[in-house]
Amino acid sequence: MYHASADPATVTPAVRAAGSVRVPGDKSISHRYAMLAALADGPSIIHGFLPGADCLSTLACLQGLGVAVERTPDGVVHVHGRGMNGLRAPVTPLDAGNSGTTIRLLSGVVAAHGFRTIIGGDASLSRRPMKRVINPLTQMGATIDAEDGRPPLTINGARLRGIHFQPEVPSAQVKSAVLLAGLQAEGETTVVETYPTRDHTERALREFGATLTQVNGHVRIEGSQRLSGRELTVPGDISSAVFWLALAAGTPGASIDIEGVGLNPTRCAALDVFQRAGASIEVTTDRETGGEPMGRIRVSYGSPRSFEITPGEVPGMIDEIPGLAALGALLPPGSEMTVRGAAELRVKESDRITCLSRGLRILGAHVEEFPDGFRLVAQPLAGGIVDAVDDHRLAMAFAIAATGASGPTTIQGASSVSVSYPGFFEALERLTR
Ligand code: S3P
Repeated sequence: MYHASADPATVTPAVRAAGSVRVPGDKSISHRYAMLAALADGPSIIHGFLPGADCLSTLACLQGLGVAVERTPDGVVHVHGRGMNGLRAPVTPLDAGNSGTTIRLLSGVVAAHGFRTIIGGDASLSRRPMKRVINPLTQMGATIDAEDGRPPLTINGARLRGIHFQPEVPSAQVKSAVLLAGLQAEGETTVVETYPTRDHTERALREFGATLTQVNGHVRIEGSQRLSGRELTVPGDISSAVFWLALAAGTPGASIDIEGVGLNPTRCAALDVFQRAGASIEVTTDRETGGEPMGRIRVSYGSPRSFEITPGEVPGMIDEIPGLAALGALLPPGSEMTVRGAAELRVKESDRITCLSRGLRILGAHVEEFPDGFRLVAQPLAGGIVDAVDDHRLAMAFAIAATGASGPTTIQGASSVSVSYPGFFEALERLTR
């Protein structure tokens, strides 16, 4: 029995894993469409916008910057674009809540506006590193104050100039913050990526009418371009779908169809890992929307086995590692999952290496932690009381692992699933009863 809005949530062993599910809108794309719509000339209509806490934080911040935003009862978001340089100075500090994407991307947006913006968030966000965006935006001409490089940020916007920039860590948020600033700057901005990261900003910018080039890991945008309002549909979030992939791949006899999910190649790397781990996966692309491919993933139980995630693969599946770890815990006893080169997991909504290891150990897995990853050895799972430390992806990973335990599991901090997947526990109930 799952208690939807209750925290803690209790998960009991799955009696089956089957059915069809539609995951909520993609979190990364929802943020980007809202921000670009705010900068565009004219109105935009966004269908399938993720009504999760993070994306609602973005909408609230945009409202604080003078943007008129309406959400209809059926979840369609209307944004009245204010045009380039048209945002208004906020009268109170902006609250990005739990959302790293909101604070980092919006920093790039407001850095080009000649006023002061203070932007902060919850306790988790206040611990997250921001120098990665402060440095390039400062080079472009903004002045940003932050104690110890952490939120809240006080951003004094300015007329920006384009830069040539290579981020120290592969990060779509950093790339996007610089591109959004570059869009509004004088001259050309180039971001050089050593490892490719999700390219939703690039696709969305084109969709709103901007031109940019992507050649050999160099993303180049000319400044002072104008955007025009659009009507768009956000595909389902593949990072949410991953929890159903783990459930089906780890439950004997399972088969689950995930419909309407985004299939952008820069987000699909985890599908290869599921296949390597023995899952049977069929992907059908139905259509493209807003420059983003979408379709169906059918995942069935196959022959689960040990798998490894290599450092070079990590940037392409950074959000999927908790879900993959849930599969690791559901593998036949003695099978192993290893991930290295994933130190970035320590600066997500929580320290995902330590907190994930701790929770999966409580459920019964054997987990050895490394500074940049972990090695999990599957063991029969018993269940227990775990703490998701208010990290949405840990709450979902523990819930999936718990379906394979012999007894019930209590998940503290379970209501955090609303950050990216409102309705997760109801969908889990439907697919496993
Ligand atoms: C995101 C990029 C990733 C990811 C986050 C969303 C984005 O963060 O973990 O959930 O929307 O650009 P980093 O850019 O910090 O890797």
